[in-house]
Amino acid sequence: MLDKNIDLNGKKILVTGAAGFIGSNLCKELLRSYDDIHIYGIDNMNDYYDPKIKNDRLREIYELACAGDSENAASDESRFDFVRGNIADKELVTSVFDEFKPDVVVNLAAQAGVRYSIENPDAYIESNIIGFYNILEACRHSYDSADSSEYKGVQHLVYASSSSVYGSNKKIPYSVEDKVDNPVSLYAATKKSNELLAHSYSKLYGIPSTGLRFFTVYGPAGRPDMAYFGFTNKLVNGDKIKIFNFGNCKRDFTFVDDIVKGVVNVMQVAPSENENGVKYKVYNIGNNDPVNLLDFVDILQQELISAGVLPGDYDFEAHKELVPMQPGDVEITYADVTALQEDFGFKPSTPLREGLKSFAKWYKEYYC
Ligand SMILES: NC(=O)c1ccc[n+]([C@@H]2O[C@H](COP(=O)([O-])OP(=O)(O)OC[C@H]3O[C@@H](n4cnc5c(N)ncnc54)[C@H](O)[C@@H]3O)[C@@H](O)[C@H]2O)c1
Repeated sequence: MLDKNIDLNGKKILVTGAAGFIGSNLCKELLRSYDDIHIYGIDNMNDYYDPKIKNDRLREIYELACAGDSENAASDESRFDFVRGNIADKELVTSVFDEFKPDVVVNLAAQAGVRYSIENPDAYIESNIIGFYNILEACRHSYDSADSSEYKGVQHLVYASSSSVYGSNKKIPYSVEDKVDNPVSLYAATKKSNELLAHSYSKLYGIPSTGLRFFTVYGPAGRPDMAYFGFTNKLVNGDKIKIFNFGNCKRDFTFVDDIVKGVVNVMQVAPSENENGVKYKVYNIGNNDPVNLLDFVDILQQELISAGVLPGDYDFEAHKELVPMQPGDVEITYADVTALQEDFGFKPSTPLREGLKSFAKWYKEYYC
């Protein structure tokens, strides 16, 4: 196990993509776990999916930040500030860094999704490449006045990569030691590029950085563009769901709480110099237990019935269609989490049924 070298209490944390699925859950977890923490969230609130969900997530964060339920909380100051803005806007990013002076930066803002990148490549280059470059530049310049001021600059940059960097890797489980030079989507290529850019900035400017390759994250108030959410919408509307590659797909579905626990663990350990003199790490965070898509859908529909989202006699067989593979998709994702376990004594552990149960319960309350 690695020793923690960053105490998050009293720290200023910049979270990009704060209104997003993972970002909002991270902000809430940090506010719950650390009384004396100050979070600054950035999100452009784009309409890639229903912005109402993003607004509702933000409201929940504000409620927690203002709850004042702790004696130790810095009572005069809000523990959460938010700016609606684009990380591809260099001036905005620079001014946020200049004013807020973050100790830890968690970059989760990105244009997500594999299929959308085929029709909308610009969005990926803007958010995932230019946006991430702006964050790296701002981290670099955070050290400019380190000698003369109390602020020592960014102590750790944690950023979202993705299991998609493994492309159609044949070797499973996917290990961070595997060669990942064969992306099969633009999204994957931007995420791999983030790792390369972070490496060069860590080498050149000493920015300690950790990339996290998340594996198919699901949970309450998740992303409507992801299969489990889209399937649910379709089943509720009486439409047919399309199961790709005729159901012969496996995904390492990872519950959002496990992802957030992983991120919080990692935030507290800025990497020390490796054998090449670079403060740089990459980890997988995945459930380490891939599930066949047909089994996944079967558990999902059972949980939707028991939550009252679908009626008990729902004719599920009549609402599913097995179709060929989509461009950019891969047959299996399967995370090797050995490094995460060795360094942090942690691995995701929420069983799929339990995670889908909480999604179905949330869906019932939110939509039905
Ligand atoms: N959810 C998953 O299964 C999964 C898997 C692998 C990697 N990831 C990565 O994790 C991160 C978070 O994913 P998520 O599932 O929470 O997605 P999300 O879309 O819910 O969250 C991303 C947020 O970033 C915001 N955003 C996008 N571009 C922006 C920009 N240019 N400036 C400011 N804000 C911007 C969006 O409005 C959104 O709220 C992303 O980087 C994503 O690529 C997610």
